[in-house]
Amino acid sequence: MYNSKIIGLGHYVPENVVTNDDLSKVMDTNDAWIQERTGIKERRHVVRGDGDTTTSMGVKAAKIAIERAGIDKDDIDFIVFATLSPDYYFPGPGVLVQRDLGIKTVGALDVRNQCSGFVYAISIADQYIKTGMYKNVLVIGSELHSHGLDMTTRGRAVSVIFGDGAGAAVLTREEDTTKGILSTHLHSEGQHAEELSLIAPGMGNRWVTDIMEDNDPNDESYFPYMNGQFVFKNAVVRFSEVIVEGLEKNKLKSTDIDLLVPHQANLRISQFIQKKFQLSDDQVFNNIMKYGNTTAASIPIALTEAWQEGKVKSGDLVVLAAFGSGFTWGSVIIRW
Ligand code: UT7
Repeated sequence: MYNSKIIGLGHYVPENVVTNDDLSKVMDTNDAWIQERTGIKERRHVVRGDGDTTTSMGVKAAKIAIERAGIDKDDIDFIVFATLSPDYYFPGPGVLVQRDLGIKTVGALDVRNQCSGFVYAISIADQYIKTGMYKNVLVIGSELHSHGLDMTTRGRAVSVIFGDGAGAAVLTREEDTTKGILSTHLHSEGQHAEELSLIAPGMGNRWVTDIMEDNDPNDESYFPYMNGQFVFKNAVVRFSEVIVEGLEKNKLKSTDIDLLVPHQANLRISQFIQKKFQLSDDQVFNNIMKYGNTTAASIPIALTEAWQEGKVKSGDLVVLAAFGSGFTWGSVIIRW
Protein backbone atom coordinates (compact mmCIF):
# COMPACT_ATOMS: atom_id res chain seq x y z
CA MET A 1 0.00 0.00 0.00
CA TYR A 2 1.08 3.54 -0.77
CA ASN A 3 -0.04 6.97 0.35
CA SER A 4 -0.96 9.72 -2.06
CA LYS A 5 0.21 13.32 -1.95
CA ILE A 6 -0.64 16.56 -3.71
CA ILE A 7 2.25 17.70 -5.91
CA GLY A 8 0.57 20.43 -7.99
CA LEU A 9 -2.19 22.96 -7.40
CA GLY A 10 -3.81 25.51 -9.71
CA HIS A 11 -6.84 27.72 -9.86
CA TYR A 12 -8.67 29.92 -12.30
CA VAL A 13 -11.39 32.51 -11.71
CA PRO A 14 -13.11 34.67 -14.33
CA GLU A 15 -11.88 38.28 -14.48
CA ASN A 16 -15.36 39.77 -14.06
CA VAL A 17 -15.77 40.95 -10.44
CA VAL A 18 -19.37 41.34 -9.19
CA THR A 19 -19.58 43.34 -5.97
CA ASN A 20 -22.44 43.36 -3.50
CA ASP A 21 -23.30 46.86 -4.73
CA ASP A 22 -23.51 45.49 -8.29
CA LEU A 23 -26.07 42.94 -7.09
CA SER A 24 -28.10 45.60 -5.30
CA LYS A 25 -28.70 47.20 -8.72
CA VAL A 26 -30.56 44.13 -10.00
CA MET A 27 -32.30 42.88 -6.82
CA ASP A 28 -33.41 44.12 -3.43
CA THR A 29 -30.26 43.43 -1.42
CA ASN A 30 -27.42 45.42 0.04
CA ASP A 31 -23.74 45.17 0.94
CA ALA A 32 -24.39 45.31 4.70
CA TRP A 33 -26.81 42.33 4.66
CA ILE A 34 -24.56 40.18 2.51
CA GLN A 35 -21.39 40.93 4.47
CA GLU A 36 -23.05 40.55 7.86
CA ARG A 37 -24.67 37.17 7.04
CA THR A 38 -21.99 35.64 4.81
CA GLY A 39 -18.75 37.68 4.88
CA ILE A 40 -18.85 37.90 1.07
CA LYS A 41 -17.70 41.20 -0.49
CA GLU A 42 -17.53 40.15 -4.13
CA ARG A 43 -17.57 37.11 -6.38
CA ARG A 44 -16.58 36.31 -9.98
CA HIS A 45 -19.15 35.71 -12.70
CA VAL A 46 -18.44 34.46 -16.20
CA VAL A 47 -19.67 37.10 -18.65
CA ARG A 48 -22.24 35.75 -21.07
CA GLY A 49 -20.58 35.03 -24.39
CA ASP A 50 -17.04 34.95 -22.93
CA GLY A 51 -16.81 31.27 -23.76
CA ASP A 52 -15.82 30.12 -20.26
CA THR A 53 -17.59 26.99 -19.07
CA THR A 54 -17.21 24.68 -16.11
CA THR A 55 -14.96 22.51 -18.27
CA SER A 56 -12.85 25.31 -19.73
CA MET A 57 -12.23 26.82 -16.30
CA GLY A 58 -11.33 23.38 -14.99
CA VAL A 59 -8.91 22.90 -17.89
CA LYS A 60 -7.23 26.24 -17.15
CA ALA A 61 -6.79 25.33 -13.48
CA ALA A 62 -5.59 21.83 -14.42
CA LYS A 63 -2.92 23.12 -16.81
CA ILE A 64 -1.40 25.16 -13.97
CA ALA A 65 -1.60 22.24 -11.53
CA ILE A 66 0.05 19.85 -14.02
CA GLU A 67 2.84 22.32 -14.78
CA ARG A 68 3.50 22.91 -11.07
CA ALA A 69 3.49 19.16 -10.48
CA GLY A 70 6.38 18.93 -12.93
CA ILE A 71 4.80 16.11 -14.89
CA ASP A 72 3.59 15.79 -18.45
CA LYS A 73 -0.13 15.55 -19.20
CA ASP A 74 0.57 12.09 -20.61
CA ASP A 75 1.72 11.00 -17.15
CA ILE A 76 -1.89 11.45 -15.88
CA ASP A 77 -3.44 8.02 -15.27
CA PHE A 78 -6.96 9.08 -14.28
CA ILE A 79 -9.20 12.17 -14.11
CA VAL A 80 -11.76 12.95 -11.41
CA PHE A 81 -14.01 15.98 -11.98
CA ALA A 82 -16.33 17.36 -9.29
CA THR A 83 -19.09 19.81 -10.18
CA LEU A 84 -22.79 20.52 -9.78
CA SER A 85 -22.84 22.73 -12.89
CA PRO A 86 -21.68 20.52 -15.78
CA ASP A 87 -21.58 21.90 -19.33
CA TYR A 88 -23.93 19.15 -20.47
CA TYR A 89 -26.51 17.06 -18.63
CA PHE A 90 -24.42 14.20 -19.99
CA PRO A 91 -21.63 13.38 -20.66
CA GLY A 92 -19.97 14.93 -17.63
CA PRO A 93 -16.95 17.22 -17.82
CA GLY A 94 -14.37 14.52 -17.02
CA VAL A 95 -14.27 13.31 -20.61
CA LEU A 96 -14.29 16.89 -21.91
CA VAL A 97 -11.13 17.54 -19.90
CA GLN A 98 -9.56 14.37 -21.34
CA ARG A 99 -10.38 15.71 -24.81
CA ASP A 100 -9.49 19.36 -24.27
CA LEU A 101 -6.19 18.66 -22.51
CA GLY A 102 -5.33 16.07 -25.16
CA ILE A 103 -4.67 13.43 -22.52
CA LYS A 104 -4.45 9.83 -23.75
CA THR A 105 -7.53 7.66 -23.28
CA VAL A 106 -7.37 7.33 -19.49
CA GLY A 107 -10.49 6.90 -17.36
CA ALA A 108 -12.49 9.99 -16.43
CA LEU A 109 -14.95 10.04 -13.54
CA ASP A 110 -17.53 12.68 -12.64
CA VAL A 111 -18.38 13.34 -9.01
CA ARG A 112 -21.75 14.83 -8.06
CA ASN A 113 -21.39 15.77 -4.44
CA GLN A 114 -21.81 19.52 -4.67
CA CYS A 115 -19.96 21.39 -1.89
CA SER A 116 -18.32 18.15 -0.73
CA GLY A 117 -17.38 17.24 -4.31
CA PHE A 118 -13.69 18.02 -4.06
CA VAL A 119 -13.30 16.12 -0.78
CA TYR A 120 -15.06 13.11 -2.31
CA ALA A 121 -12.91 13.44 -5.46
CA ILE A 122 -9.69 13.56 -3.43
CA SER A 123 -10.81 10.49 -1.51
CA ILE A 124 -11.41 8.59 -4.76
CA ALA A 125 -8.01 9.59 -6.16
CA ASP A 126 -6.39 8.60 -2.87
CA GLN A 127 -7.90 5.10 -2.96
CA TYR A 128 -6.74 4.46 -6.53
CA ILE A 129 -3.21 5.60 -5.69
CA LYS A 130 -3.11 3.71 -2.37
CA THR A 131 -3.85 0.39 -4.05
CA GLY A 132 -1.27 1.03 -6.76
CA MET A 133 -3.84 1.04 -9.56
CA TYR A 134 -2.88 4.55 -10.67
CA LYS A 135 0.19 6.69 -10.01
CA ASN A 136 -0.87 10.22 -11.04
CA VAL A 137 -4.47 11.41 -10.73
CA LEU A 138 -5.81 14.80 -11.83
CA VAL A 139 -8.58 16.09 -9.58
CA ILE A 140 -10.65 19.11 -10.62
CA GLY A 141 -13.42 21.08 -8.90
CA SER A 142 -15.10 23.66 -11.12
CA GLU A 143 -18.37 25.56 -11.07
CA LEU A 144 -20.23 27.97 -13.30
CA HIS A 145 -23.08 29.11 -11.04
CA SER A 146 -23.86 32.52 -12.43
CA HIS A 147 -25.68 31.32 -15.56
CA GLY A 148 -28.11 29.30 -13.42
CA LEU A 149 -29.02 31.72 -10.62
CA ASP A 150 -32.24 33.64 -10.17
CA MET A 151 -30.78 37.16 -10.24
CA THR A 152 -34.03 38.80 -9.12
CA THR A 153 -35.24 39.59 -5.59
CA ARG A 154 -37.08 36.25 -5.61
CA GLY A 155 -33.75 34.38 -5.68
CA ARG A 156 -31.66 36.73 -3.52
CA ALA A 157 -31.20 34.38 -0.54
CA VAL A 158 -29.27 32.01 -2.79
CA SER A 159 -27.93 34.06 -5.68
CA VAL A 160 -25.83 36.50 -3.63
CA ILE A 161 -23.83 33.61 -2.20
CA PHE A 162 -22.54 31.68 -5.19
CA GLY A 163 -19.66 32.46 -7.56
CA ASP A 164 -17.77 30.92 -10.49
CA GLY A 165 -14.29 29.44 -10.59
CA ALA A 166 -12.14 26.32 -10.68
CA GLY A 167 -9.33 24.63 -8.83
CA ALA A 168 -7.26 21.54 -9.57
CA ALA A 169 -4.78 19.24 -7.89
CA VAL A 170 -2.39 16.58 -9.14
CA LEU A 171 -1.96 13.66 -6.75
CA THR A 172 0.83 11.16 -6.99
CA ARG A 173 2.17 8.08 -5.21
CA GLU A 174 4.04 8.57 -1.91
CA GLU A 175 6.03 5.60 -0.65
CA ASP A 176 6.40 6.98 2.89
CA THR A 177 3.04 6.23 4.50
CA THR A 178 3.59 8.80 7.27
CA LYS A 179 3.33 11.53 4.62
CA GLY A 180 0.68 12.79 2.22
CA ILE A 181 -3.00 12.01 2.65
CA LEU A 182 -3.32 10.20 5.97
CA SER A 183 -7.07 9.55 5.79
CA THR A 184 -10.34 10.68 4.24
CA HIS A 185 -13.80 10.56 5.83
CA LEU A 186 -17.05 10.71 3.86
CA HIS A 187 -20.71 10.90 4.97
CA SER A 188 -24.19 11.46 3.64
CA GLU A 189 -27.71 11.98 4.97
CA GLY A 190 -30.12 11.79 2.07
CA GLN A 191 -33.20 12.46 4.15
CA HIS A 192 -32.34 16.16 3.73
CA ALA A 193 -31.75 15.93 -0.03
CA GLU A 194 -34.33 18.55 -0.95
CA GLU A 195 -33.18 21.15 1.63
CA LEU A 196 -30.41 22.27 -0.74
CA SER A 197 -31.21 21.19 -4.24
CA LEU A 198 -31.93 21.99 -7.85
CA ILE A 199 -34.86 19.78 -8.84
CA ALA A 200 -35.04 20.34 -12.61
CA PRO A 201 -34.16 19.01 -15.11
CA GLY A 202 -34.22 15.78 -13.11
CA MET A 203 -36.28 12.96 -14.58
CA GLY A 204 -37.81 12.01 -11.20
CA ASN A 205 -41.44 12.99 -11.71
CA ARG A 206 -41.37 14.77 -15.01
CA TRP A 207 -41.29 13.89 -18.66
CA VAL A 208 -39.11 16.09 -20.86
CA THR A 209 -42.00 16.44 -23.29
CA ASP A 210 -44.17 17.85 -20.46
CA ILE A 211 -41.46 20.33 -19.47
CA MET A 212 -41.20 21.49 -23.07
CA GLU A 213 -44.95 21.76 -23.43
CA ASP A 214 -45.33 23.70 -20.14
CA ASN A 215 -42.41 26.02 -21.00
CA ASP A 216 -43.29 27.89 -17.81
CA PRO A 217 -41.14 31.02 -17.14
CA ASN A 218 -42.24 30.91 -13.48
CA ASP A 219 -40.94 27.37 -12.98
CA GLU A 220 -38.54 27.90 -10.06
CA SER A 221 -37.38 24.29 -10.06
CA TYR A 222 -34.66 25.30 -12.51
CA PHE A 223 -33.07 27.48 -9.82
CA PRO A 224 -31.19 26.21 -6.76
CA TYR A 225 -33.23 26.09 -3.55
CA MET A 226 -31.69 26.34 -0.09
CA ASN A 227 -33.33 26.18 3.33
CA GLY A 228 -30.55 28.47 4.58
CA GLN A 229 -30.96 28.32 8.35
CA PHE A 230 -31.49 24.54 8.36
CA VAL A 231 -28.40 24.05 6.20
CA PHE A 232 -26.40 26.38 8.42
CA LYS A 233 -27.35 24.50 11.61
CA ASN A 234 -26.44 21.13 10.10
CA ALA A 235 -23.22 22.50 8.60
CA VAL A 236 -21.69 23.64 11.87
CA VAL A 237 -22.43 20.26 13.51
CA ARG A 238 -21.19 18.10 10.62
CA PHE A 239 -18.07 20.20 9.95
CA SER A 240 -17.07 19.76 13.59
CA GLU A 241 -17.86 16.04 13.69
CA VAL A 242 -15.93 15.15 10.58
CA ILE A 243 -12.86 17.16 11.60
CA VAL A 244 -12.83 15.40 14.97
CA GLU A 245 -13.29 12.04 13.22
CA GLY A 246 -10.25 12.68 11.05
CA LEU A 247 -8.10 13.86 13.92
CA GLU A 248 -9.05 10.91 16.15
CA LYS A 249 -8.38 8.41 13.36
CA ASN A 250 -4.79 9.70 13.25
CA LYS A 251 -4.42 10.17 17.02
CA LEU A 252 -4.11 13.92 16.56
CA LYS A 253 -5.57 16.90 18.41
CA SER A 254 -6.97 20.16 17.08
CA THR A 255 -3.84 21.89 18.40
CA ASP A 256 -1.86 19.82 15.86
CA ILE A 257 -3.64 21.52 12.94
CA ASP A 258 -1.34 23.87 11.03
CA LEU A 259 -3.94 24.85 8.46
CA LEU A 260 -7.65 24.17 8.17
CA VAL A 261 -9.07 24.83 4.70
CA PRO A 262 -12.83 24.62 5.07
CA HIS A 263 -15.24 24.62 2.15
CA GLN A 264 -16.09 28.30 1.71
CA ALA A 265 -19.81 28.06 2.45
CA ASN A 266 -20.22 31.07 4.69
CA LEU A 267 -17.58 33.01 6.64
CA ARG A 268 -19.79 32.71 9.74
CA ILE A 269 -19.58 28.90 9.53
CA SER A 270 -15.77 29.04 9.24
CA GLN A 271 -15.60 31.42 12.20
CA PHE A 272 -17.81 29.13 14.27
CA ILE A 273 -15.50 26.17 13.55
CA GLN A 274 -12.41 28.27 14.23
CA LYS A 275 -13.78 29.27 17.63
CA LYS A 276 -14.93 25.76 18.49
CA PHE A 277 -11.46 24.32 17.84
CA GLN A 278 -9.76 27.41 19.32
CA LEU A 279 -7.71 28.00 16.16
CA SER A 280 -5.92 31.26 15.40
CA ASP A 281 -6.59 33.32 12.27
CA ASP A 282 -3.36 31.90 10.81
CA GLN A 283 -4.66 28.35 11.20
CA VAL A 284 -7.82 28.82 9.10
CA PHE A 285 -7.77 29.88 5.46
CA ASN A 286 -10.73 31.87 4.12
CA ASN A 287 -11.20 33.58 0.77
CA ILE A 288 -15.00 33.59 0.51
CA MET A 289 -14.79 37.38 0.80
CA LYS A 290 -13.38 37.51 -2.76
CA TYR A 291 -15.09 34.60 -4.49
CA GLY A 292 -18.32 33.73 -2.67
CA ASN A 293 -19.22 30.06 -2.42
CA THR A 294 -17.89 28.19 -5.45
CA THR A 295 -19.08 24.77 -4.15
CA ALA A 296 -16.80 22.01 -5.51
CA ALA A 297 -14.20 24.58 -6.56
CA SER A 298 -13.94 26.36 -3.23
CA ILE A 299 -11.46 24.07 -1.46
CA PRO A 300 -9.04 23.71 -4.40
CA ILE A 301 -9.13 27.48 -5.03
CA ALA A 302 -8.50 28.17 -1.34
CA LEU A 303 -5.80 25.49 -1.05
CA THR A 304 -4.03 26.87 -4.12
CA GLU A 305 -4.09 30.41 -2.74
CA ALA A 306 -2.90 29.22 0.68
CA TRP A 307 -0.04 27.35 -0.99
CA GLN A 308 0.83 30.38 -3.16
CA GLU A 309 0.95 32.54 -0.02
CA GLY A 310 3.41 30.13 1.61
CA LYS A 311 0.88 28.97 4.20
CA VAL A 312 1.32 25.29 3.36
CA LYS A 313 4.77 23.99 4.22
CA SER A 314 6.43 20.60 4.18
CA GLY A 315 5.51 18.68 7.33
CA ASP A 316 2.39 20.77 8.07
CA LEU A 317 -0.84 19.11 9.14
CA VAL A 318 -3.44 20.36 6.66
CA VAL A 319 -7.12 19.56 7.14
CA LEU A 320 -9.76 19.94 4.43
CA ALA A 321 -13.44 19.80 5.44
CA ALA A 322 -16.68 20.27 3.56
CA PHE A 323 -20.43 20.13 4.01
CA GLY A 324 -23.21 20.68 1.52
CA SER A 325 -26.12 19.50 -0.55
CA GLY A 326 -27.15 15.89 -0.14
CA PHE A 327 -26.50 16.39 2.68
CA THR A 328 -22.92 15.20 2.18
CA TRP A 329 -19.85 16.04 4.19
CA GLY A 330 -16.27 14.91 4.58
CA SER A 331 -12.71 15.65 5.63
CA VAL A 332 -9.18 14.98 4.41
CA ILE A 333 -6.21 14.82 6.78
CA ILE A 334 -2.89 15.59 5.09
CA ARG A 335 0.70 15.57 6.33
CA TRP A 336 2.14 17.92 3.69
O1 UT7 B 1 -22.34 25.56 0.50
C1 UT7 B 1 -23.35 24.70 0.95
C2 UT7 B 1 -23.67 24.98 2.33
N1 UT7 B 1 -24.37 26.23 2.41
C3 UT7 B 1 -24.41 26.84 3.55
O2 UT7 B 1 -23.82 26.40 4.50
C4 UT7 B 1 -25.28 28.08 3.69
C5 UT7 B 1 -25.92 28.09 5.04
N2 UT7 B 1 -26.88 29.17 5.23
C6 UT7 B 1 -26.54 30.47 5.26
O3 UT7 B 1 -25.41 30.79 5.01
C7 UT7 B 1 -27.58 31.47 5.65
O4 UT7 B 1 -28.75 30.82 6.05
C8 UT7 B 1 -27.92 32.49 4.53
C9 UT7 B 1 -26.74 33.43 4.33
C10 UT7 B 1 -28.21 31.76 3.25
C11 UT7 B 1 -29.14 33.33 4.88
O5 UT7 B 1 -28.95 33.96 6.10
P1 UT7 B 1 -30.10 33.89 7.21
O6 UT7 B 1 -29.61 34.66 8.36
O7 UT7 B 1 -30.42 32.46 7.42
O8 UT7 B 1 -31.27 34.69 6.53
P2 UT7 B 1 -32.78 34.23 6.23
O9 UT7 B 1 -32.83 33.36 5.03
O10 UT7 B 1 -33.41 33.74 7.49
O11 UT7 B 1 -33.47 35.61 5.88
C12 UT7 B 1 -33.54 36.69 6.84
C13 UT7 B 1 -34.17 37.87 6.16
C14 UT7 B 1 -35.48 37.54 5.43
O12 UT7 B 1 -36.33 38.66 5.54
P3 UT7 B 1 -37.50 38.68 6.66
O13 UT7 B 1 -38.37 37.50 6.34
O14 UT7 B 1 -36.81 38.58 7.97
O15 UT7 B 1 -38.17 40.00 6.42
C15 UT7 B 1 -35.06 37.39 4.01
O16 UT7 B 1 -36.10 37.67 3.09
O17 UT7 B 1 -33.30 38.39 5.16
C16 UT7 B 1 -33.99 38.45 3.89
N3 UT7 B 1 -33.02 38.19 2.84
C17 UT7 B 1 -32.26 39.14 2.29
N4 UT7 B 1 -32.18 40.46 2.50
C18 UT7 B 1 -31.28 41.15 1.77
C19 UT7 B 1 -32.70 36.98 2.28
N5 UT7 B 1 -31.74 37.17 1.36
C20 UT7 B 1 -31.44 38.47 1.34
C21 UT7 B 1 -30.53 39.26 0.62
N6 UT7 B 1 -30.47 40.59 0.85
N7 UT7 B 1 -29.70 38.73 -0.31
